[in-house]
Amino acid sequence: MIVLPGPASKKLGEKISDLLNVKKVEVDFKFFPDGESYICLKGDVLSEEVIIVQTTGPPQDTRIFQLVLMVDAVKRCGAKKVTVITPYLAYSRQDKCFLKGEALSIEAIAKIFKAVGINRLITVNIHEEQVLSKFPFPTKNVSAVPLLAYYFKKKNFKKSFLLAPDKGAMHIIEEAKKVLNMECGYLDKYRDRYTGEIRMEKKRVNVKGRVVIIFDDIISTGGTMIKAAALVKELGAKKVYAACVHPLLIGNAEELLYESGIEKIVGTDSIPSNVSKISLAPLLSKELYS
Ligand code: R5P
Repeated sequence: MIVLPGPASKKLGEKISDLLNVKKVEVDFKFFPDGESYICLKGDVLSEEVIIVQTTGPPQDTRIFQLVLMVDAVKRCGAKKVTVITPYLAYSRQDKCFLKGEALSIEAIAKIFKAVGINRLITVNIHEEQVLSKFPFPTKNVSAVPLLAYYFKKKNFKKSFLLAPDKGAMHIIEEAKKVLNMECGYLDKYRDRYTGEIRMEKKRVNVKGRVVIIFDDIISTGGTMIKAAALVKELGAKKVYAACVHPLLIGNAEELLYESGIEKIVGTDSIPSNVSKISLAPLLSKELYS
């Protein structure tokens, strides 16, 4: 087995190869003056199972295309099997055509991945697990939520309140609750399909005088977390923490989250960022051997 840490997940890929104690092959990459991507393998992968580690956070299209080129290169150099680890799988939120005329983006990604020759895909907390059925090869979705929950447990959080910003994130809260064993609840969030604007209904949740930890799969613009934090603060929450698996943190989202009064943001290295306090390397290494 050989690990190939892609340009978007260099550190994570290196940690995985160290933990597994297997060889890694470096990849040279650059952009041509017109913006096209270039990659070149710096080692031999002949007859090996190759594990390519490449997250597909922003800039998503570039990250996906670098991945496609890496798969093409390892196949061309005689790899026996190609397993791809994309902790954050871009386009997975467009898992249906919400409006007439839209593309089914994740299905298009599945077709591209199949066509280029990926044999197996491992991802982390994909937005909707059932979209993996669109991929015509073995896939696995692993959860980093227990790792996030243990982070708070180790910091001695007790009698806090676990909050989902919408009902759809309650499965995340249920997982965190198994570790933290705290009271929990959810808010009602609605997103305008045309403008993307979020509306959160005022709702009674028992947070008065409590520390609240809001869990979500993704923080992108931060709008969801900021609205949820404002609402629980209005209801008397003492402190608010934000936890997520994929800290996309677009533009100045991190700054806006802190300005909104959120105490701390805790994320994983699914997307390398200032808030990536937890590494997915042990979880993903274990998965490769299960
Ligand atoms: C959506 O359903 C996801 O679970 C997240 O709540 C969403 O992607 C967060 O996006 P933003 O930070 O832009 O509100």
